[in-house]
Amino acid sequence: MEIIIQPTPAAATDVAARIIARLLREKPDAVLGLATGSTPLRLYQVLVDMNLDWSGVTTFNLDEYIGLPREHSQSYHSFMWENLFRHVNIKRENVHIPDGNAADIPAFCAAYEAAIHAAGGIDLQVLGIGTDGHIGFNEPTSSLASRTRIKTLAPRTRKDNARFFGSEEAVPHHVITMGIGTIMEARLNLLLGFGSSKASAIAEAVEGPITSLNPASILQMHPVVKVCLDEPAASLLQRADYYRWVYANKPAWQTF
Ligand code: GLP
Repeated sequence: MEIIIQPTPAAATDVAARIIARLLREKPDAVLGLATGSTPLRLYQVLVDMNLDWSGVTTFNLDEYIGLPREHSQSYHSFMWENLFRHVNIKRENVHIPDGNAADIPAFCAAYEAAIHAAGGIDLQVLGIGTDGHIGFNEPTSSLASRTRIKTLAPRTRKDNARFFGSEEAVPHHVITMGIGTIMEARLNLLLGFGSSKASAIAEAVEGPITSLNPASILQMHPVVKVCLDEPAASLLQRADYYRWVYANKPAWQTF
């Protein structure tokens, strides 16, 4: 894992945006895995401002609530179109977001996995992290080999996301999420974490044992993971000084 600690969320976001921009310039037909939530909001703004060419890019989103109409302001369809897709030249047919209203959810999930495979796999997966260590909506005790499927949200996640819905009761109970096995097949995982509320989940994921109790900890087994943090999110890392030293001493050709 490469741990990149920056003074502010804006600075950490800029590093992440440069990593994505480089990929899109080097591989115009790249396949991106995308995340929602408050963490990547600024990333999408920065990417829009970079005026990149998205005409050959294919995207797969991590997750979606089950049962929310697509047009609902809190659906991840709305989130992605509002915050990224409508501002760039991506082709509508190249955008994939799980369908939370699919009549046959297992069949939909199998087809989603097949579509990722048919697109050549995900080159770069953007991840946030839940306060309980979830990635996508893979809650603690998710199988570390799981594939795209239905999940029931943990009470803590429904509480965390109540701010978007006005009340906890309004947060759906069920979601479709890419599995941890799916995420582990991405060629690069780029995780962003900001704020002190993420500090313990980040410390467990990066420096703790690999355990399904913190699903993000499985990323220790992935060959190419970059973790972009602000100082508060990095505050519980025991080796923070080492990560800073490594980043400051990268060979020039490896910098972003
Ligand atoms: C959400 C999403 C995750 C996201 C996480 C953190 O529920 N399903 O993909 O990373 O929880 O959200 P936020 O960035 O708003 O803190």
